[in-house]
Amino acid sequence: MTATTDGKPVPVVVPIRSLGPGHRERIAAHLLALDANDRYLRFGYTATDDQVRRYAESLDFDRDDVFGIYNRKLELIAVAHLAYSPDPRANRIAEFGVSVLAKARGRGFGNRLFERAVIHARNEGVDLLYIHALSENTAMLRIARNAGAELERLGSETEAYLRLPPATLDSRMSELLTEQVAQTDYRLKLQASQLRDFLSLMQETREGLRAARHRSGS
Ligand SMILES: CC(C)(COP(=O)(O)OP(=O)(O)OC[C@H]1O[C@@H](n2cnc3c(N)ncnc32)[C@H](O)[C@@H]1OP(=O)(O)O)[C@@H](O)C(=O)NCCC(=O)NCCS
Repeated sequence: MTATTDGKPVPVVVPIRSLGPGHRERIAAHLLALDANDRYLRFGYTATDDQVRRYAESLDFDRDDVFGIYNRKLELIAVAHLAYSPDPRANRIAEFGVSVLAKARGRGFGNRLFERAVIHARNEGVDLLYIHALSENTAMLRIARNAGAELERLGSETEAYLRLPPATLDSRMSELLTEQVAQTDYRLKLQASQLRDFLSLMQETREGLRAARHRSGS
């Protein structure tokens, strides 16, 4: 939150963009950066590097939806996966999974990704969102409970179900706008990063030339 001139906090817009096959490597890098405990919370088991890579490799972007938050350095700091059942009889149900890098937690990214996934799922005709979490996963269960999900604890695991209202013109417009803002934000970050690379290359070249001139005594 930031403060307005009248002192009231206003929500900060977090650019969340949808990710496709071109982001697969960055998704893998994001997941590989999670430590063993986070992988256990995310996948329900302590996924090895190979398992994480296989998961990223097997993401089906035609069927599922993946959303991400990039920081200024184009590091993927948060990823959400909205998975649809391959069974056409269950096409109105989707499962939500998410991870936020440890250094970026507690800033509302988990909540924002969940809201983004909810809007998208509604617009896709999904009416039941499912979340599987370990019962110890306070943050994830809080996100689900705050959204109004029903929680069913089964010992060390908890299942959460959120009923979604049908899409409206508002939910569709809101998603379109959110995606456009996020795409623009990404393009600007990409440009800034390319400019930084270019400037540092120029700097290196200048330093190299200076050193060569110094050595030749000219
Ligand atoms: C779960 C996870 C995605 C939350 O991400 P986050 O960006 O830190 O979450 P937010 O900042 O949006 O916080 C969400 C809610 O959890 C609460 N919360 C955050 N961290 C918490 C913690 N360590 N303990 C208790 N509550 C916590 C926040 O206060 C917030 O609740 P509020 O809206 O009522 O204030 C992140 O911890 C994570 O990636 N964990 C590892 C992977 C995982 O567990 N994935 C979920 C299973 S699919």
